[in-house]
Amino acid sequence: MITLGIESSCDDTSVALVRDGVEVLASLVSSQIEIHRRFGGVVPEVASRKHLEAILPLLNEAMTAARCEFKDIGQIAVTAGPGLLGPLLIGLSTAKALAWQLKVPLIPVNHIEAHLTASFLAAGRKPEFPYLGLIVSGGNSNLVYVTGPRQFKCLAQTLDDAPGELFDKVARHLNLGYPGGPVIQKTGEGGDPKRYRLPRPMAGKGYVFSFSGLKTAVMRIVEQEGDRLNMRDLCASLQQAVAESFAEKVEMALNETRARKLVMAGGVAANRPLREKMQQLADAHKAELLLPTIHLCTDNAAMIAAHGYFTADAAPANSLEVNAVASWEMGGPHNF
Ligand code: KG4
Repeated sequence: MITLGIESSCDDTSVALVRDGVEVLASLVSSQIEIHRRFGGVVPEVASRKHLEAILPLLNEAMTAARCEFKDIGQIAVTAGPGLLGPLLIGLSTAKALAWQLKVPLIPVNHIEAHLTASFLAAGRKPEFPYLGLIVSGGNSNLVYVTGPRQFKCLAQTLDDAPGELFDKVARHLNLGYPGGPVIQKTGEGGDPKRYRLPRPMAGKGYVFSFSGLKTAVMRIVEQEGDRLNMRDLCASLQQAVAESFAEKVEMALNETRARKLVMAGGVAANRPLREKMQQLADAHKAELLLPTIHLCTDNAAMIAAHGYFTADAAPANSLEVNAVASWEMGGPHNF
């Protein structure tokens, strides 16, 4: 079964073809980072226009790269939410038109759920349950216990900013560029993560994350240090604070659920100090850590196709009538 995946929830247009939910035949991404860089963030209206320009040429390129013909497509999976409504509608409308024309099923996919499936896809494996999932991105930080393709128990969420948002805001404040995560990681390479004392927000306060206090703490250090500021050590210290904040809650959950698999996903899962911390934690608990490859960490349609394949049974019968949704709880019904 070949699934065509389409993703356009934010600033990446992506089209992929995946066989049986585990084999990526082609996965192409057209990134808009350069366009949004000068605004310091994603401008939804600009993003929608760029998705519209990119999507059909990308579809043709992906078909060629996968050596597929349209008659080979068995079903279409598309991100229906959560995300920016204008951008989502471009991918969803394209998917609906194709599904109608090719007379194949359309599967609306929850983008956040798909990020977790990406880790199994990276290993060429089907999702294996139960597992503990940590989703870390520009808009999310969720710790969930997963018992089935769409069965999630939310353990912890952030009270304020998501980690990617923190990195993006700090990078903007420090004039390091956009997006913040990769540039903070690069700047912090070889730096001393203990040089600056940053808080570990919500440490010892149970299942809850908070990152906005870290942003304030970084700003205070910048003010206090003035010309003495060592940017490399500051970026290393910030990443260490984020990694340790996640580690405390993940460790609690590993102890409580006795999960033997830990999956980390989302754009911030590309962060090396965080990956290393999670690996140490998994090793200490004799758990297996599954991480997506860097390509599968950021928004991509391969994970949408794979997740669509494994959740096809739960797709609504009237899927050609579904709408895009800005917010959509993991495992929750479509609010169409
Ligand atoms: O999942 P994603 O591509 O988009 C959504 O948020 O939906 O994540 C983007 C976020 C950005 O905030 C970016 O700064 C962050 O992921 N990011 C990173 C790294 N690469 C991307 N954060 C830390 N370290 C990285 N290497």
